[in-house]
Amino acid sequence: PKVVVLMGGPSAERDVSLSTGRACAAALRDRNFSVIEVDAGPDLYADLRAASPDVVLNCLHGRWGEDGCVQGILEWMGIPYSHSGVLASALAMDKQRSKEVFRSAGLPIVESIIASAADVRARHVMDPPYVVKPNNEGSSVGVYLIDIENNGPPQLDADMPAEVMVERFAAGRELTTTVMGERALTVTDILTTGWYDYDAKYKEGGSTHVVPADVPQEIFELCMDYALRAHNALGCRGVSRTDFRWDESRGAEGLILLETNTQPGMTPTSLSPEQAQAVGISFGELCAWMVEDASC
Ligand code: DAL
Ligand code: MG
Repeated sequence: PKVVVLMGGPSAERDVSLSTGRACAAALRDRNFSVIEVDAGPDLYADLRAASPDVVLNCLHGRWGEDGCVQGILEWMGIPYSHSGVLASALAMDKQRSKEVFRSAGLPIVESIIASAADVRARHVMDPPYVVKPNNEGSSVGVYLIDIENNGPPQLDADMPAEVMVERFAAGRELTTTVMGERALTVTDILTTGWYDYDAKYKEGGSTHVVPADVPQEIFELCMDYALRAHNALGCRGVSRTDFRWDESRGAEGLILLETNTQPGMTPTSLSPEQAQAVGISFGELCAWMVEDASC
């Protein structure tokens, strides 16, 4: 099939998406797919018309590419595309609303509120420690940790959205599980010296991934179960990745679901390809599967 690899775009995760897109395009070419790389810009509709692909491999991250917008264009045009559809993408990208879905599904989440950035700058809207983040971005862009030592409320950057999510800080280890279709792959334990921020995510050596995670069997199985249930509760399709925090001092009670990513990174340092590899699925096989699984 003729595949358009959709990448780049205008979101804060543009560079991550270019890295994801290039890696996937190269892997598909190696498997003799006919591949056209398209940087998603204002002429996206015309570019897709001109390319007239059989399938779009959506390698976009963040707003417009991961939140249902691009999915709507592809539905409109009748072009099969990878990953989640309009509703699941929009729900998952809205961290606060996706928590409502998780809560209804009986999945463990951490308390959070939506507050105006002005309020958050003016006073502690929650007792520290807490985390402030955009409600709809990924890759830890614009994430602030306000710990007990801090005296005042956070001085958020001017480019933060007018409304932000304020979440009680959940201490513990960073665990993650990728779902591929109906199958949870494995669990990775992410070791960092500090916060698992943008640099720790994408700089070579920024973090160490232990896969499969060296955690008790019960915790491993809970991650697999929760990731699949989160994927299904949101109505996701194809590949997704669900991130957890685990406070091991509290046993199974200490496992919290942070979020589900409907367009998980496929960069050289990303978690999902590594998890696939760990269960015997090569990067090229994963990309080819995404193309085969595409629908609209
Ligand atoms: N938002 C990044 C791409 C991820 O979740 O992998
Ligand atoms: Mg994310």
